[in-house]
Amino acid sequence: NAPLTVLGIEASCDDTAAALVRHVPGAAPVILSNVVAGQDALHEGFGGVVPEIAARAHAEALDLTVEKALEGRGLRVVDAVAVTAGPGLIGGVVAGVMLAKGIAAGAGLPLVGVNHLAGHALTPRLTDGLSFPYLMLLVSGGHCQFLLVRGEGDHRRLGGTIDDAPGEAFDKTARLLGLPMPGGPAVEREAARGTPRIALPRPLLGREGCDLSFSGLKTAVLRARGDLAPDGALREGDRADLCASFQAAVTEVLAEKSRRALRAAGPVTAFAVAGGVAANGAIRAALEGVAAEAGTPFAAPPPPLCTDNGAMIAWAGIEALRQGRRDDLTLAARPRWPL
Ligand code: KG4
Ligand code: ZN
Repeated sequence: NAPLTVLGIEASCDDTAAALVRHVPGAAPVILSNVVAGQDALHEGFGGVVPEIAARAHAEALDLTVEKALEGRGLRVVDAVAVTAGPGLIGGVVAGVMLAKGIAAGAGLPLVGVNHLAGHALTPRLTDGLSFPYLMLLVSGGHCQFLLVRGEGDHRRLGGTIDDAPGEAFDKTARLLGLPMPGGPAVEREAARGTPRIALPRPLLGREGCDLSFSGLKTAVLRARGDLAPDGALREGDRADLCASFQAAVTEVLAEKSRRALRAAGPVTAFAVAGGVAANGAIRAALEGVAAEAGTPFAAPPPPLCTDNGAMIAWAGIEALRQGRRDDLTLAARPRWPL
């Protein structure tokens, strides 16, 4: 139960990130630094993240990102190194794990491998001091799942998307309507000027359980676009209405499935959301409303800690170390690693 300062390293998707988090038992954890080097510009024009480009960019950016996170303090202040060991794009995960091993071996520090999803799932304990068990909805460009978080390394998946993640649907809708990337914020801005008057499906809404689906919605947007503009030129007002209708459909589905997940979860201390899509004002408000209906406290980490970052990995490392878990230099990078 000693004070711990942990260096967290994250390179599993398209952000190279590193952070220092300090925790003194009995006090709130402190994020000493949190550095994120994004790759948006590198992947622009490819219609998504290109794995080879991502891997090379991680390899190039990792050293400097870690150095920035240390802020000239040097490794003397660090008690352990935590690194995302999966799931994710293998090139980046390997680059991060190798660097972490090098630092740990070189400085004689403990090493702990972290599951990226566990990092997201434990973030509300870092930001809001939540106690177990709580329900977490993780909604981003790559993930969409309900997790009952019962302890460090103890999660139960209550349901999730059977196809696309909502962020992916926002991005595809934006591309279809000629809006800039990332699509989520662009669609949200348009939606604010429109009316949700266009009928779009609510996939799986009527089906039992907490599973979700978003790929049919994207097809429906494509069809609606064709109906509104048979000649190809979509009017500004129609585009705004289509964005509003799309956002309303996603919001309704997420809210209804959250209601069910809260019932399925049993007693929980809170309903927490994380992931880039949780930055959407309409979605956030609807989910907050669902928590209020159920009389459950609502927690949403600030957006920079909702999206991929190193602080969540450092914090998950601290939680793992407090449970007596650590890895050695045989720690493997795992492209697939379900919770
Ligand atoms: O968590 P994140 O940064 O990265 C991963 O996917 O892991 O999430 C990015 C996703 C993108 O698809 C982006 O379009 C979406 O989150 N997003 C939003 C908003 N801001 C970001 N979606 C809807 N509304 C927003 N305001
Ligand atoms: Zn993530």
